[in-house]
Amino acid sequence: VKVTYIAHDGSQTDIDADEGDTVMHAAVSQDVDGIVGECGGAMMCATCHCYVDAAWADRVGTRDRSEEDMLDGAASEVTERSRLSCQIKLTSDLDGLVVHLPEEQF
Ligand code: FES
Repeated sequence: VKVTYIAHDGSQTDIDADEGDTVMHAAVSQDVDGIVGECGGAMMCATCHCYVDAAWADRVGTRDRSEEDMLDGAASEVTERSRLSCQIKLTSDLDGLVVHLPEEQF
């Protein structure tokens, strides 16, 4: 599954991730800057905040209530397209996914 991360400064990183991996874990394991994932995906930190690209928003789906609550603690502005990247599981449907990264995670 291909995933593109676009950093706040516009720099772009493309990776190949395993199906079933999360957008957070794939980034951390392949040294993509801009996603921290401090809690390891337990939805306890909000340092994996990302903005789903507009073209992908429908396919990725929406956040649930507990994700919403955790995003309240995110360091950067939360928008309609904000998600915790540890809660986005990569399926073949998401091949080519583009996410944008916030300016800061702390
Ligand atoms: Fe901590 Fe996603 S990694 S909330």
